[in-house]
Amino acid sequence: MAERHDQGGAQVVKVSVRGGEICIAQQPGSGNLGTSVWDASVILVHYLNDNSKQFNQRTMDGKRVLELGAGCGLAGIYCATLGADVTLTDLEPVLPILNQNARRNLGGMPESVKYKVQEYCWGNPVDALDAPYDYIIACDCVYVESLVEVLVWSLEQLAGASTTVVVCRHVHTSKLVDLSTSTLLTIPAVRASCAVRSYRSEHADLLFCKRKRNTAAPPQLAQHASEGEQPAAALHPATKSLRAEED
Ligand SMILES: C[S@@+](CC[C@H](N)C(=O)[O-])C[C@H]1O[C@@H](n2cnc3c(N)ncnc32)[C@H](O)[C@@H]1O
Repeated sequence: MAERHDQGGAQVVKVSVRGGEICIAQQPGSGNLGTSVWDASVILVHYLNDNSKQFNQRTMDGKRVLELGAGCGLAGIYCATLGADVTLTDLEPVLPILNQNARRNLGGMPESVKYKVQEYCWGNPVDALDAPYDYIIACDCVYVESLVEVLVWSLEQLAGASTTVVVCRHVHTSKLVDLSTSTLLTIPAVRASCAVRSYRSEHADLLFCKRKRNTAAPPQLAQHASEGEQPAAALHPATKSLRAEED
């Protein structure tokens, strides 16, 4: 169940899950997409909660989870409550509300609950993100076609051989963007549709992707294994030309 409330002028989204309730503050009128809770993250949390045989405190304990475009942080925060070691990322203007929500929900938990909030803009070098991860999640991040290429590029840089990439998107945007643009990630190993009747949006596609078997891990991940020389920080070509224009 997910409900939206007004609480002292601030809007709050409350999501009931097995272990209790996650309470996320949002600022829908801020003009920034990241300060609202989007339906895909609510739906992903419900999916994980409903599939607790697979996603529970035993199976997720110590798993490394990276959330891209985390916004208010709901999905990643839920993973942290299951014991995962979570890195929540977004653009700089979104970090205050992301930090606030992480502290609010995870701050009082045992020391074993680990999380950090970090700035990351898709298409930029991934070195500071300390890949590989067990899971990389992205909810409602494929809503604008022009962003898909850089997002997919970052996913390809970050996904190691055993990483599961979980993309949750609205059915109504599914036609707009297609992860088949990726030559490195599998087209969903599992494709699940999830219905949450109690919530505003009823359906989303959940894509569980893996790195294709015959593709080499990106240099920064291979380097993790070999402890070799530091490779030059990779940058998506579109990001490169934008930077050149700025200089
Ligand atoms: C529609 S919101 C979804 C937020 C959150 N995942 C949710 O489901 O509630 C899209 C998020 O992607 C972030 N975003 C957009 N472009 C980005 C980029 N180039 N790099 C990193 N994050 C980006 C936005 O700041 C925003 O938080």
